[in-house]
Amino acid sequence: MKENECACSPLVSEAWTAMKTTPSAGFVDRHAEPRPDLKSKLRVKVCTNGARSRKSEPPVAASTNLALDRYVGREIIGVGGMATVVRAFDKVLLRDVAIKIPNRESASARESTRFAREAQVTAELEHPNVIPVYDFGTNQRGVPFISMKLVKGETLEDTLARIGPARLEPAVLHELTHVFVRVCDAIAHAHSLGFIHRDLKPSNVMIGELGQVYVIDWGVAHLISVPSNDVQAHGAFGGEVVGTLRYMAPEQLQALDGRLDERTDVFGLGAILYEVLTGQPPHEFKALADIAFNRAQVVITPPDAGAVSAALSRIAVKAMSHEMTKRYQSVRQLREEVERFQDAGRRAAR
Ligand SMILES: Nc1ncnc2c1ncn2[C@@H]1O[C@H](COP(=O)(O)OP(=O)(O)OP(=O)(O)O)[C@@H](O)[C@H]1O
Ligand SMILES: [Mg+2]
Repeated sequence: MKENECACSPLVSEAWTAMKTTPSAGFVDRHAEPRPDLKSKLRVKVCTNGARSRKSEPPVAASTNLALDRYVGREIIGVGGMATVVRAFDKVLLRDVAIKIPNRESASARESTRFAREAQVTAELEHPNVIPVYDFGTNQRGVPFISMKLVKGETLEDTLARIGPARLEPAVLHELTHVFVRVCDAIAHAHSLGFIHRDLKPSNVMIGELGQVYVIDWGVAHLISVPSNDVQAHGAFGGEVVGTLRYMAPEQLQALDGRLDERTDVFGLGAILYEVLTGQPPHEFKALADIAFNRAQVVITPPDAGAVSAALSRIAVKAMSHEMTKRYQSVRQLREEVERFQDAGRRAAR
């Protein structure tokens, strides 16, 4: 197996091939309701982060005119709360790349700095499961951009939406846990260098056509010991709320910046596992008003015991404990538990 390939490659890549070709022949028909909307690479993602959407300002980047000498914009392949990602042709190296630019052309100096930092952090992380960065710069209009490896595949969010209930079939679940373990590897590596991601969710995980797994969007990652200067939204308790509300740990929702550490990402990993099991984010905070109302008391409904593996369910729920001391204290511990589940599955299949 190649370094960055996971054991799940055949099925995931089959899924991708099926999505690109005829839906009648492959994975889609056998495992899921077809989702024609997800078959278009030109899809525009719904922003899942109320705190970050700026509905009044249409994304200026929603065009492939990048104003970059070296790159020719081809098509929009993703729109997040902060940025638009365009497939572009690199005229020097004669290959397609992904170019990320801010949604607003009038990006403030602070946003531009943040963008540069995202590029630097991602570049520093260098890991088989972290998206490789190629370049950072500003275009002719002064807008910052990041050029990176183009992942020919889809996000884990898209995979889960497309395969629907088939995600719980033992073989598929087994493959999804392999994807999850690769995500754990990326995050454990980031932690070893002192960075936490802070925005873990299925749309920030990409699966390539060979089954490669990449954690993307390190835009709000920060050094654990350094207090964050990022401003995404003002929290209900006077601090700053950074991340995506429905996946956030309580200490993030309460903007307790000083308390964030590796266990905040353990919560985020638990949230990803939860969505793999249930098809839903772990909680329903969609707006900052909800936080003020609920005082960030995150209530997580355990996955339906009749439908979902009890062992994986326990792991996800423990990872998302309200008290940080009750979570896995490191990504390594969480990863080991998931591997124990995989080993048990393998033994049972023999
Ligand atoms: N390297 C890549 N190759 C292919 N598609 C990508 C790549 N990077 C990002 N995308 C697509 O673009 C979308 C938005 O990218 P990204 O998550 O980096 O933006 P964002 O604005 O920071 O997102 P968020 O809403 O999470 O803040 C991703 O969910 C994915 O669909
Ligand atoms: Mg994102």
